[in-house]
Amino acid sequence: MTTTTIPTPQSHPSADGIWIGLRPAPGLCTADLPVPEGAATCVVVQGGTVQWVGPEDAWPAAWNALPRFDARGALATPGLVDCHTHLVYGGQRANEFAMRLAGATYEEVARAGGGIVSSVRATREASEDELFALALPRLQALLDEGVCAIEIKSGYGLALDHERKQLRVARRLGEALGVTVRTTFLGAHALPSEYAGRSQDYTDLVCKEMLPALAAEGLVDAVDVFCERIAFTLAETEQVFQAARALGIPVKLHAEQLSDMGGAALAARYGALSCDHIEHLSADGIAAMKAAGTVAVLLPGAYYTLRDTHLPPIAALREAGVPMAVSTDHNPGTSPALSLLLMANMACTLFRLTVPEALAGITTHAARALGLQDTHGLIASGRPANFVLWPFADAAELAYWFGHKPARTIVRQGRIVKGA
Ligand code: NIG
Ligand code: FE
Repeated sequence: MTTTTIPTPQSHPSADGIWIGLRPAPGLCTADLPVPEGAATCVVVQGGTVQWVGPEDAWPAAWNALPRFDARGALATPGLVDCHTHLVYGGQRANEFAMRLAGATYEEVARAGGGIVSSVRATREASEDELFALALPRLQALLDEGVCAIEIKSGYGLALDHERKQLRVARRLGEALGVTVRTTFLGAHALPSEYAGRSQDYTDLVCKEMLPALAAEGLVDAVDVFCERIAFTLAETEQVFQAARALGIPVKLHAEQLSDMGGAALAARYGALSCDHIEHLSADGIAAMKAAGTVAVLLPGAYYTLRDTHLPPIAALREAGVPMAVSTDHNPGTSPALSLLLMANMACTLFRLTVPEALAGITTHAARALGLQDTHGLIASGRPANFVLWPFADAAELAYWFGHKPARTIVRQGRIVKGA
């Protein structure tokens, strides 16, 4: 058993009360009564839920008995949403970092037996409690910055028991820390070595045994595939999507990261929640995603780590009106990133997103990429109380500073988990 002691979510003070003096970041708050230009916003929380949002001093009298929290003019955003992570794994891959510095590409490292399958070895060797203890500080680092909902994928087990272990740890992390966790089954992440040359057999195993069993245990909120020439073909991807559809589970895709496989258009045909990476996304892929309402998840940490130079088609996505999310893609190989705000900064600097696009990318659009658009990613009544107060005059500062954790107050699942 792990000896790590963590405060239970209930040990943090309740956020129930009237929060006055907030300045919501533009576009990230919906008020019940319009707030006059320049006036402060007030948010009423009761029972862990946002009950009312509107101008200060105008809250309905029914809430008068609640305690007051004075935000003193702080910038407010909804809790951040990290919509693409591989947070639960054994080991680390700093050696590959060194190999790439010496000139090897990601594909060369993978073909030489490194890459995903090396994390598979370390993950299989670790117990569930060990994986929990390893992932806990990573998750805590993200939460300390204001993340209130996160996606955690499997995909380093690649066998039923080991995929189960990863997904169970993901669920346990959410319960232990009081954070919304969406689990994604990524059994089709890489071909495990025992299936070398038998890709179809492994795909059958994923579809016929692993996915149904894990879904029956309530461990699968979505299904993902790595569709790439070093991973799974378009036909294998479609087979996994069909298995997900048969179980009524939404899909998403690691699509067009290293090459244009046509994965995004396929995913859109299956109503995918999101297509992620998409550096090599085509015009057809963009049109299909727009038609299906699929979110484009941008992962600048992986782009940066791999020293990629092929930019995702940001201008075309913007012109088409495809919602763009931004995420850490936290994983031991291509994005050992533990700061979502740094990703917002990189999305602006490397991908040329505007600041409002980057902020929507780590809140509202990220929530949509997880199917959480009705509960997360926006300060609005009827939603669980997840919001962050920042010591900033200008919302642009959220994407401008990097390398520190500026959140002043964090309210997560109705509890004040940082600041008071
Ligand atoms: O999202 N692209 C595939 N999967 C991960 C990398 C996983 C790894 O290298 O361990 C990603 O970048
Ligand atoms: Fe990924």
